[in-house]
Order: sequence, then C-alpha cells, then structure tokens
Amino acid sequence: MRRKVIAGNWKMNMLPNEAIDFINALAPSVKNTSNETILCVPYTDLFYSLLTVQETNIHIGAQNMHWEENGAYTGEVAPEMLKCINVEYVIIGHSERRQYFNETDETVNKKLKAALKHELKPIVCVGETLEERESGRAEEVVTMQILKSLEGLTAEDLQNVIIAYEPIWAIGTGRTATSEDANNMCKTIREKIKEKFQSDDITILYGGSVKSANAKELFTMSDIDGGLVGGASLKVDEFSKIVNFDK
Ligand code: PGA
Repeated sequence: MRRKVIAGNWKMNMLPNEAIDFINALAPSVKNTSNETILCVPYTDLFYSLLTVQETNIHIGAQNMHWEENGAYTGEVAPEMLKCINVEYVIIGHSERRQYFNETDETVNKKLKAALKHELKPIVCVGETLEERESGRAEEVVTMQILKSLEGLTAEDLQNVIIAYEPIWAIGTGRTATSEDANNMCKTIREKIKEKFQSDDITILYGGSVKSANAKELFTMSDIDGGLVGGASLKVDEFSKIVNFDK
C-alpha cells in the first residue's frame, strides 16, 4: 500500500539501554505525524525496543533474517523467531549484506517469500554501484534486481512489501542522489512493477545520505514515498526532523 514511511536503519549501532533512551526521546515528537515511523534495530535491541514502543506509534523492524524455518544454521535468525516477539518489519537485501555477506537476488527472493509467509513486512533494498551508474547501466541493474527479487510474488503480496532504492555510492558517503535522479529511478521501479503485477500501489523509499536538510525535497517528489535512513537515524533530533519533514 502506498503511504509515507520513514525507516531508520541503525546498522550495527546502539546498545539496548541506548535504544530505550532513543525511543523514549523520539516518541513524543513523532506522535502526531501520519508518516509511518519505523526503527530497524540490531537483533539484541529488538525485545527491549518492542517493549518501549508500546503506546507509541513507532514500529520496529529487524535488519536481516534467514529464509529457513529452523535448523543447523549457526548464527542465523529464523522468520518465526522475529514474528513470535512481534517484530513487524525486516530489511532484506541491504547493499551491505549483498557486499559483505554474499547476498544475491536469489537469496533476497527466498527471504522475501519467507518473510511474507510469516506475516513480516519486508523492506527490500535495491541499488546500483557508482561504476554501474557511470557506465549508464543503473536502470538495467536495478530493474533486474527488482524482477528477480520479486519473482513469484502476487499483486496482493506487494501490499505488504516496501521497496528501498539505495544507490550504493550514496550510502554513508554524504553524497545524495539528486532528487530528480532518485525520483526517476523510483518511477522506473514503479513502472516495472506495474508491468509485472498490473498494480503500482507500492511504497518506494529512497535511501543514501538522507538528512533533515534534504528530506523534504526528496520525499515530496512524485514517486518517492519516504526514506530509509542510516547515519541520520542515530540522532534523535535529526531523525525526528526527518520524520516530520512535512511540518
Ligand atoms: P545512510 O545509510 O543514510 O547512512 O547513507 C542508508 C542505508 O544504508 O540504509
């Protein structure tokens, strides 16, 4: 379903006590917004975060999961393990996972199906490298990632999926895509999804060096429904301004 969403991705940051303090400080400033506020926290913060967001309108997500139900996968976390403590969202296929942990469109697709089966809402990341952009292949690469990642899903499934377009060269570099470039790619993604599923009713976020200074410009573009925010989601004031970009 298409709606405004601002999701923080804490990556490998924040201890449980820091997570609790952060949520308690953030909650009052986001309580009147209709923009959906999500924090994707490390596994060890999930339980504490879920307890702390009760009575707030903040939603909690994990940053990864395995696609198998259970078994001999040392160090992995299964979908049901997230679902049973009431985790609502899960990031799938973040470029750091693709780059450092060998995730591929095939594993992203398996994880996506497993998440939907367990009624977790996936935030699926796609995006091109600098080399791919400079050689004029960005659209082709992202289109392929979208088609392979969403293979086998139905239009109904898409209601519970969020796509995050994150050009890899813009992540953590301070270099943001121009709002036009970001919007063009989100538009292309929407068109490809429409061709494949006969529906473009899907939330598409932009990610990559989003901050309070550029959030409004990006999030008011025609095809960008909000953001996946890394570094700037670690500071309460900054993240609160991003969530309230339209105030
Ligand atoms: P960044 O990270 O906002 O620090 O660039 C975004 C992300 O990796 O999701």
